[in-house]
Amino acid sequence: MRHYNKILLTGIHGQLGHALKPALEKLGTVIALDREKLDLSQPDSIRAAVRLIKPDLIINPAAYTAVDLAESESEIAHAINGIAPGIFAEEAASINALLVHYSTGFVFDGKKTHAYSEDDVAAPINAYGSSKLAGEEAIRESEASHLILRTNWVYSAYGKNFMLKILELAQTRSELRIINDQFGNPTSTNTIVNATIPALSAWEPGHTGTYHLVDQGETSWHGFAQEIIQQYEHLALKKNLPALATSANRVLGIPTADYPTPAQRPAQSSLNTEKLRTSFKLELPHWQEDLRQVMAAIAA
Ligand SMILES: NC(=O)c1ccc[n+]([C@@H]2O[C@H](COP(=O)([O-])OP(=O)(O)OC[C@H]3O[C@@H](n4cnc5c(N)ncnc54)[C@H](OP(=O)(O)O)[C@@H]3O)[C@@H](O)[C@H]2O)c1
Repeated sequence: MRHYNKILLTGIHGQLGHALKPALEKLGTVIALDREKLDLSQPDSIRAAVRLIKPDLIINPAAYTAVDLAESESEIAHAINGIAPGIFAEEAASINALLVHYSTGFVFDGKKTHAYSEDDVAAPINAYGSSKLAGEEAIRESEASHLILRTNWVYSAYGKNFMLKILELAQTRSELRIINDQFGNPTSTNTIVNATIPALSAWEPGHTGTYHLVDQGETSWHGFAQEIIQQYEHLALKKNLPALATSANRVLGIPTADYPTPAQRPAQSSLNTEKLRTSFKLELPHWQEDLRQVMAAIAA
């Protein structure tokens, strides 16, 4: 297993940063900086932090992730998602550090009928997607060794996410109406960590590039919500958990048009993971199985 001396990790209070920290500790000494210690909207503090720490690995899961708010706060979203990754890349190149950065299937316009591969042209349709694409491009244009890992619909037992929101709403509402014409890949932070660590262990300079990292299979937000409730119902029977107010057959599908939001979202953001699986000889779980593991951990 490849060892790193100093690993600079951002976003440790976010879903992914929180999950990455203990796993990265097996690869080297982790210096984890939250927003208070390193504000990504301040390029000079990024430069100062990297120059002080001199890491040989930089992992950047921090991001401006409020997709709707980004429409009215596009400048700050661009600073954090578009500019900061490029500064990390410049600094990484100057000290020969590897940069690992996370991006999103929302860089695509969603007009494709099946999963996007890394060769497909990115054409974001909202401010968040544009800011994330700018960050990717700044890294690709740099001289830094890098891995850009695009993922989708991230959830975990920790933090803010769709799975926890559905479980919360289902405690009090007898019916849920969820969008059924946007498709993507629900992906737990477990999957992202379980792929990031072997990729880092097996890292060679020839691996530099952009990869898709999501669970296998795709569904709609409605399909995801229904599965969450169904799996909870199953667990509730087995483990004697309190019943929800919403039953799985009361999770109703609605079109995007019935749920207007400030940001437009791609109808299709599913990602094809073949490049990552073959390059790093990895297996990725099916999203329903992955969800089962996370729900079982919550129930326990
Ligand atoms: N969530 C998804 O569904 C999803 C889907 C596709 C791709 N992604 C990508 O996956 C990565 C991880 O997402 P996530 O779900 O873990 O996000 P998250 O839970 O929203 O966490 C984001 C983290 O970024 C930090 N952050 C925000 N602004 C900052 C700033 N100015 N300076 C320093 N830190 C700042 C936040 O700090 P505070 O804790 O202080 O707010 C938080 O810790 C991101 O690159 C995201 O774009 C996420």
